[in-house]
Amino acid sequence: MTHTPVLSIILAAGKGTRMCSKLPKPMHRLAHRSILGHVLATVRKAGHKKIAVVIGPDMDHLAEEAHSHAANCIICVQANRLGTANAVLSAQNVLAEHTGDVFVLFADTPLLRPETLINASAMLNKGANLVVMGFETNNPKGYGRLVIDSQGNLAAIREHSEATLQEQTIRICNSGVMAFRCSNFIAMLNQIDNNNIKQEYYLTDIVEVAHRHKLSCSVLLCDEEELLGINDRVQLAVAESKFQNQARNAAMYSGATLIDPSTVWFAYDTTLGQDVIVEPNVFFGPGVNIADGTHIRANCYIEGTIIGSGSCIGPYARLRPGAKLGTDVNIGNFVEVKNTIIGDNVKANHLSYLGDGTIGSGANIGAGTIFCNYDGFNKHSTVIGEKSFIGSNTSLVAPIQIGSGAIIGSGSVITRSVPDNALAIERNRQVHKKIWANKFRTLISRKR
Ligand code: UD1
Ligand code: MG
Repeated sequence: MTHTPVLSIILAAGKGTRMCSKLPKPMHRLAHRSILGHVLATVRKAGHKKIAVVIGPDMDHLAEEAHSHAANCIICVQANRLGTANAVLSAQNVLAEHTGDVFVLFADTPLLRPETLINASAMLNKGANLVVMGFETNNPKGYGRLVIDSQGNLAAIREHSEATLQEQTIRICNSGVMAFRCSNFIAMLNQIDNNNIKQEYYLTDIVEVAHRHKLSCSVLLCDEEELLGINDRVQLAVAESKFQNQARNAAMYSGATLIDPSTVWFAYDTTLGQDVIVEPNVFFGPGVNIADGTHIRANCYIEGTIIGSGSCIGPYARLRPGAKLGTDVNIGNFVEVKNTIIGDNVKANHLSYLGDGTIGSGANIGAGTIFCNYDGFNKHSTVIGEKSFIGSNTSLVAPIQIGSGAIIGSGSVITRSVPDNALAIERNRQVHKKIWANKFRTLISRKR
């Protein structure tokens, strides 16, 4: 954690033209969280208490998104998109009141780690006035280049479009993430001009301004992957795949077995306990928490679900938001569970829809059981008592309660609540017509 108060300014006002999208670039999602959400989570984990997000004048949704991840963040509006230095100046009021370190981050670098921000703070503590987080790459096209002098100090940052052919050969690039400890930061920003091809105020020019003020500028060299900037959908897909690999490795290093890791898809917040086994082709949406020793068999789609230990899910199960499963639960093929609390040792092994319900521990849900929860207007709940037995192909028309230990005869359409330990059966009595089948066959063969 950093020791001086830190203000993080996140620039998110750019048009994101290269995304070719109606959605602002920072709203695009990576592992079910917006790119901006990832950046905000990183600065919060690094202990930055004050956060300002710079958005464009027509970006109310982005402001809402920012507040949903950091309720106290301050929204600053950049009236005209005149470049990254101008974007930072849009937070001038916040800057004027702030006395500690300042970090500037872009809302398009979602893989940045909090540890890197903490390392940059350590460099400020050791005497640097400006720290630029950079990376070395074999494909520097489009990035600003870090011009480093013979003493190893950062002399300038040259945007790709402004760089000489010689400077274009530099492979150390600017990530856009910078840390500042300088009392006259606002004055320095105001000294940046727009005498360049794009006629923009480039934040990167602050390095040369800092030199004029005799301030020391350093580079914190980081992993290329961590500082990947997303400007188009190809880079979004690259970032997604890198995030997924990191999540898969983290799950395996903490004790889960992924039989074919590249086919298991994580959300930003998926947690798997020790000795969880995940078979191929499993997709986790947000809000999934799986306890120790649970086995997720192939081809499951699981979101917003908590699963207790020792359970077995799938193959081909769909667990939707609000599913809360106890320990040693079995959910089998083609079973869909939504907003339903399932007690310990419950078995629902085949072909069922369990929505808006509560199932007591030890209950057995037969194949083809349907909770008829929706009447076209409202959702209603189904409550099943402990150790009850629901026969196959039963429709439970909610609202309804099945007592504990009750048995429901298969094929029933149950519309009234059933007492504890009762048998409920709702179907016509079976009729046998003796030797009718023989007569029928004889009749048919004569006609032929
Ligand atoms: C920028 C850097 C480049 C660096 C690269 C790393 C500058 C001038 N260039 O280039 O050195 O190598 O990032 O990914 O800083 N933004 C605003 N207002 C504006 C313009 C941009 O808020 O007027 C925001 C954008 O929303 C984005 C960030 O600033 O989050 C960077 O803008 P972008 O257009 O992506 O810059 P790059 O061309 O990637
Ligand atoms: Mg960019």
